[in-house]
Amino acid sequence: MSNQLDKVMELIELRTKARLGGGEKAIEKQHSQGKYTARERIMMLVDEGSFEELDMFVEHRCVNFGMKGKIFLGDGVVTGYGTVAGRLIYIFAQDFTVIGGSLSETMSKKICKVMDLAMQMGAPIVGLNDSGGARIQEGINALAGYAEIFQRNILASGVIPQISAILGPCAGGAVYSPALTDFIIMAQGTSYMFLTGPKVVKTVTGESVTQEQLGGADIHASRSGVTHFVVKSCEDGIVLIRKLLSFLPQNNLEEPPIIPNDDPIDRLENILNEIIPESPSKPYDMYEVIGSIVDNGEFLEVHSDYACNIIIGFAHFNGRSVGIVANQPKILAGVLDINASRKAARFVRFCDAFNIPIVTLVDVPGFLPGTTQEYGGVIIHGAKLLYAYGEATVPKVTVTLRKSYGGAHIVMSCKQLRGDMNYAWPCAEIAVMGSAGAVEVLYAKEARDSANPEDVLKKKGDEYKKFFANPYNAAKFGYIDDVIEPRNTRFRIIRALQQLATKKQTNPAKKHDNLPL
Ligand code: HXC
Repeated sequence: MSNQLDKVMELIELRTKARLGGGEKAIEKQHSQGKYTARERIMMLVDEGSFEELDMFVEHRCVNFGMKGKIFLGDGVVTGYGTVAGRLIYIFAQDFTVIGGSLSETMSKKICKVMDLAMQMGAPIVGLNDSGGARIQEGINALAGYAEIFQRNILASGVIPQISAILGPCAGGAVYSPALTDFIIMAQGTSYMFLTGPKVVKTVTGESVTQEQLGGADIHASRSGVTHFVVKSCEDGIVLIRKLLSFLPQNNLEEPPIIPNDDPIDRLENILNEIIPESPSKPYDMYEVIGSIVDNGEFLEVHSDYACNIIIGFAHFNGRSVGIVANQPKILAGVLDINASRKAARFVRFCDAFNIPIVTLVDVPGFLPGTTQEYGGVIIHGAKLLYAYGEATVPKVTVTLRKSYGGAHIVMSCKQLRGDMNYAWPCAEIAVMGSAGAVEVLYAKEARDSANPEDVLKKKGDEYKKFFANPYNAAKFGYIDDVIEPRNTRFRIIRALQQLATKKQTNPAKKHDNLPL
């Protein structure tokens, strides 16, 4: 064999070795836990044959604590680029079979390289995380490595979409980096996120917790709100990433892709003319409204298990991506509270950063009152949503279905927060507060002085309702651009979005804003 062929054989052998990551035994262990390897995950994510791997021969440089000679080609992360539905993405996938996917200095360099390329090329970066965090043996070099990644996450924020899937037990920096990205996806039963794992928790605090209790997918979906999506399996997670990317532009200078639409834009939904119950305190399901107005009823919900009194997610109107924010009258009467405000504010800011128009469906009785909310800082958290809508310059279409009261009316993309098109259904009620509360404040003395206080309050309440429990009072001042027939909502939104497609609006130049955090 020629010298050159020998070298080619050597290359092939090295590649084969690198592709084995932590070795066959470790791969078997990964599979036995219901998990895929880093490369298997990447192959599921990208278009067939599109993946180009980088830095396959990188090795760590640590010699401390038994690391000398413990070398795995490529170290604990697989990096590169490929396409999803023909569009470029950059990827890193941590390899748990190599020292628990723990982050070395050189792994950080690999990840930073693809992050830098993603920024230069203006393409999304997807991280498939499965890592025990900073590699303990590397000390400060591992911490510095994470800081390098975090810095890039921060600079990429609002420039390119950043998506993180958590596909194993992730700790320390392996969760802080995802926390800096736009979306987190966790898989039930195999994904865990915590700053420090159960073993460290036990040592430091004496507390015994399982990985599931400390940071399982369901906990982060419903209690902490850390994860935006929960899926049943890695496969579902990968499908979700591909779907999510289909709504997004490649970067903040591009528009989201427009997809072909076969759903008639003037499709009338008669059911919407009857969906609002007679009693104002009776709920209906906002999902029915969303499902009936968007293209083919397809809605990709974000944060579906967290703060369910507000619904957020992506859909298409005549093939255009939009972000939908909608109060859910079925949960807590659709009231705004701390968690709902935070959830929606972040989503509104994401949409604004990536040129995705926002459609807001309003049925909100107000902010949730009480000490729990006040002590928790509802003033600041509610202000986040107000701020997010007010600073957003993307097209904003608001439809008030029923209630729109008080501060919550203002927050939910009202006209003065630069709502572009504000529509209302005929049964909309727009006022400072509901009739019962209002007459208590305004007529308490008159009622006390009367022989029939209840009659006084009822009479005044009826007058108040007649005056405010309709959209025309707001329409009279131009705060509502039109009162629309509910069954025609899809068409009116599509027309509004078509009109607003060329919208240009800028905010004053500044270093950055000071969002109430
Ligand atoms: C070095 C690590 C490691 C780490 C895991 N390993 N984490 N090696 N540094 N951070 C190694 C293990 O020693 C083991 O090696 C292999 O990876 C698999 O780990 P296991 O413990 O056997 O797996 P499992 O039982 O599934 O538990 C996974 C785990 C646990 C929950 C992630 O390993 C764990 O708690 N690790 C430490 C997590 C942590 O507290 N990290 C914080 C780092 S600080 P062998 O050779 O036996 O196969 C940090 C700071 C960054 O990241 C900055 C934050 C802001």
